[in-house]
Amino acid sequence: MTVTARPARSRLDPEPLPRRDFLGLASIAAAASALFFATIGMLRLPKAAVLSSPSKKFRVSLPDTLAAGVPYIPPGRSVALFRDADGVFAISRVCTHLGCIVNSAANGFECPCHGSRFAGDGSVQKGPAPRALSWVKVGGSAGDYVVDEGQIVPAGTKVKA
Ligand code: FES
Repeated sequence: MTVTARPARSRLDPEPLPRRDFLGLASIAAAASALFFATIGMLRLPKAAVLSSPSKKFRVSLPDTLAAGVPYIPPGRSVALFRDADGVFAISRVCTHLGCIVNSAANGFECPCHGSRFAGDGSVQKGPAPRALSWVKVGGSAGDYVVDEGQIVPAGTKVKA
């Protein structure tokens, strides 16, 4: 058997890349670019997809001039604090009908969504709200109270002023 020598190729005319090698290199390049763009995408994702909400527990100081029966609504909070002769208490302003935030009105609260009215102690005066506004936990001592909007307490629970 005679072996014929291949003619020598010049550097200007390199041997063509076999199809199998070309497809192998192309698949490696595709996998590398997919990995690259996936990494770039993951690096751009560290921001949380949801916004953090403020804690339901917060400190508050009542104004010295706050009169009995007048609500004090801390900015950005959905509770109303009251001071009377027996102490300090907080009532949630979340309507028990569908969850709108009630506004303080003369001698109580009024819901802007469907017109429910509540007395100053949170009891329902006019529907459609099915239940009284919740009382929430107040702790701390005179001048520096801690309100926990997430903790419901029985109506009438007060902390000494
Ligand atoms: S949400 Fe308040 S009355 Fe409907």
